[in-house]
Amino acid sequence: MAATMNQAPDKVEADLNRIDERPIDLLTSRRSVLAAQLIEPGPDPDALQTMLEAAVRVPDHGRLTPWCLQVVGKPAQAELGELFVSEFARSEPEATEERLQLERIRPQRSPVLVIVSSHTHRDHAIPEVEQLLSCGNVCMNLLHAATALGFGAQWVTNWPAYNPVIKAALGIPEDEHLVGFIHIGTAKSPPSERARPHLDDVVRFLPTLPPRL
Ligand SMILES: Cc1cc2nc3c(=O)[nH]c(=O)nc-3n(C[C@H](O)[C@H](O)[C@H](O)COP(=O)(O)O)c2cc1C
Repeated sequence: MAATMNQAPDKVEADLNRIDERPIDLLTSRRSVLAAQLIEPGPDPDALQTMLEAAVRVPDHGRLTPWCLQVVGKPAQAELGELFVSEFARSEPEATEERLQLERIRPQRSPVLVIVSSHTHRDHAIPEVEQLLSCGNVCMNLLHAATALGFGAQWVTNWPAYNPVIKAALGIPEDEHLVGFIHIGTAKSPPSERARPHLDDVVRFLPTLPPRL
């Protein structure tokens, strides 16, 4: 069925294979692909460059550029894996070898890993929360850009994003946020659909303001 302007958004039949023809399909059908399902080939340098350009094209109140991106090469991913192991073992001395191996692999699962962190301008007229939201948009744009170029991607955090030693090793100050590890690669298999909120449950139309109490 062809989409029309007045069609309810949840009735649109999106198809990622048609995004060249109908770019809205990218937004209505993008799905994350689990990092563990992302295999070679990853994006080549040109594709990665395009993704990064798209990533930084985000709303940014005051043009503060309140974020940083780090593309973590394979040797650095391996080093990061060792750091994940030592930090995990420090907090869980009873951890099994199998579990430690999972931690070792964690940052190495996909061909490309991009780490997005905040770079907040303190005591600025633009509230910090807006700067952080802009940073979240960088992550979202990366996911969309990867998908638009035919790759899979996933935004993850988990405990390493909140670990001060790992943040320090990445040069992220303690008072900044490691907002996302963005894994990018080729999807081993297409992801299945995920239940989405029904619009009626999350959207309210306000022709007039509700009566004040
Ligand atoms: C800030 C943030 C952190 C996330 N961290 C994780 C994570 O550590 N592990 C995980 O499996 N999913 C994590 N997710 C969820 C996935 O990125 C993704 O939302 C989920 O797999 C469903 O993807 P989709 O709705 O984009 O298809 C996180 C999402 C956000 C926004």
